[in-house]
Amino acid sequence: MKFFVDTADTAEIQELEATGLLDGVTTNPSLIAKSGRQFKDVIKEICGITKGDVSAEVAATDFETMIKEAHELRNIADNVVIKLPLTFDGLKACKQLTEDGTKTNVTLCFSANQALLAAKAGATYISPFIGRLDDIHMDGLELIREIRVIYDNFGFETEILAASIRTPNHVRECAIIGADVATVPPATLKALVKHPLTDKGLDAFLTDWAKTGQSIL
Ligand code: E4P
Repeated sequence: MKFFVDTADTAEIQELEATGLLDGVTTNPSLIAKSGRQFKDVIKEICGITKGDVSAEVAATDFETMIKEAHELRNIADNVVIKLPLTFDGLKACKQLTEDGTKTNVTLCFSANQALLAAKAGATYISPFIGRLDDIHMDGLELIREIRVIYDNFGFETEILAASIRTPNHVRECAIIGADVATVPPATLKALVKHPLTDKGLDAFLTDWAKTGQSIL
């Protein structure tokens, strides 16, 4: 499973990129607003940090303007992926951009039928939102399961990019179900490495090693 980080904070991206475990970045208008920076400047900087796919979302809601914005964003760097909302205009733009050889990420997916439409439109990625479904007492992970079954039934190549991830458990379950990608906020991504028994075990090993008085180097 690929790991994308879900942020427009370039310092966080740089730190995680240094681990060698990052496969890409997703942003959305809310994350750009939170950064307080110019959208295109941030995307350009992120594309300079990672060679992985970087999702940049259009702001338009009509097909013609979406295509114009997509061309503008695509020109920023080769690894820009155009993020489009799950509407008929977004799907129409997805189909055209895919035919032109541009990678796409269809976002704000909350149902299996929406995911089916995005795959038919040739989306590179579909972004089902787990946390926001959980927030309204629905089962976000169940949606990932359904999409996995449907895509496998028909051999769709659209990658399932599990989004709106809030907990390490979401990441684990997505891996078990077989999501292709998880886009994870920096804090949750960093939490994946933590286990109290790892910390306790390491402390004990270091204490015992010190008692030996030895040095490896
Ligand atoms: C990523 O592409 C999505 O925009 C993001 O994961 C949404 O997460 P949120 O529901 O925590 O805002």
